[in-house]
Amino acid sequence: MSTPTAVLEGLGTALPPRVVTNAELADRLDTSDEWIRSRTGISERRMVAPGVATSDLAVEAGERALKSANVHEVDLVVVATTTPDHPCPATAPDVASRLGLGPVPAYDMAAVCSGFVYALSGAAGAIASRQAGRVLVIGSETFSSIISPEDRSTAVIFGDGAGAVVLRAGSAGEPGSLLGFDLGSDGALADLIKIPGSGSRQRATGLPPDPDDSWFTMQGRPVFTNAVKRMAGSADALLKRIGWPVDSVDRFVGHQANVRILHAVAEQLGVPADRAVINLDKVGNTSAASIPLAMGAAVADGDLAPGDRVLISAFGGGVTWGSAALVWPDLTAL
Ligand code: COA
Repeated sequence: MSTPTAVLEGLGTALPPRVVTNAELADRLDTSDEWIRSRTGISERRMVAPGVATSDLAVEAGERALKSANVHEVDLVVVATTTPDHPCPATAPDVASRLGLGPVPAYDMAAVCSGFVYALSGAAGAIASRQAGRVLVIGSETFSSIISPEDRSTAVIFGDGAGAVVLRAGSAGEPGSLLGFDLGSDGALADLIKIPGSGSRQRATGLPPDPDDSWFTMQGRPVFTNAVKRMAGSADALLKRIGWPVDSVDRFVGHQANVRILHAVAEQLGVPADRAVINLDKVGNTSAASIPLAMGAAVADGDLAPGDRVLISAFGGGVTWGSAALVWPDLTAL
């Protein structure tokens, strides 16, 4: 019996209705629409209303993905997030329960902006080892809960949102099958993207927590250069492993961090810039939700069609990175 391969069969997304424009941020921070657009490509992002948490967006996206796949049952739920509802317990069991999925295994994946690719890889492994026949993978973030409203270097970049996919056991020749992964990490660069306080490291100091240390921090310049290097290197390694010539890639769905990062990665790879899917102008960097949100927007815009060869690549805190590849299936994204 051949090893089952994970096949994409459903896609759903959820964005909070509230739009935060660059102009709104420029009203209260020392920044401008021109600076944000020229440095990042972002025009607006979404923000949850008071009272809305990561699991709420995850449930909404998860429901849509299940409906898109026309299924009611899965064997495993994975939620990739940097902003869990609580430090303990994980968010995934609550999401699985609220989706009415029964007593299935459910866990969170913490790889910041690479979280969705890491979660996809774990889910594909569960399918390959026959531990699961169908998996719901969700990337969900409420970055507005960890971004200091006064930090212009992060407040202009990140947004809230969620995206989810359903994977089922199938075979490698089918459209939608995940043909391979390339994952990596470099913990020596952990300080580049970090929430310094609120973990056991802070507690181990024996000092009282500093409230300012609970905000998300990022060293923009080295993150930029490492993101380009690692996304391009990882995507290139994967293309070679699965035997796809670079010019056969129809769509490059990179982590929506910065339009300049996406164009630099495409250029290093040799993928024409117009094959890079871009939706960060409307949603900003939504971390673990960014790749499924970009795929959903591309399907809606007619930029992702059945039969397209799709290359996915992400980079995030840790630092972590990862790539995946599939031939786009015929599905309705909700
Ligand atoms: N508005 C106006 N000025 C800003 C600003 C803002 N929102 N944020 C930073 N600046 C200023 C800086 O203070 C600095 O001023 P100085 O020259 O007087 O010191 C200047 O702009 C340049 O800052 P720098 O950080 O070097 O700019 P940059 O060209 O590297 O762009 C980022 C900053 C954050 C947009 C860019 O580094 C980036 O996109 N990094 C990757 C971020 C990312 O994608 N993270 C997620 C990956 S998982």
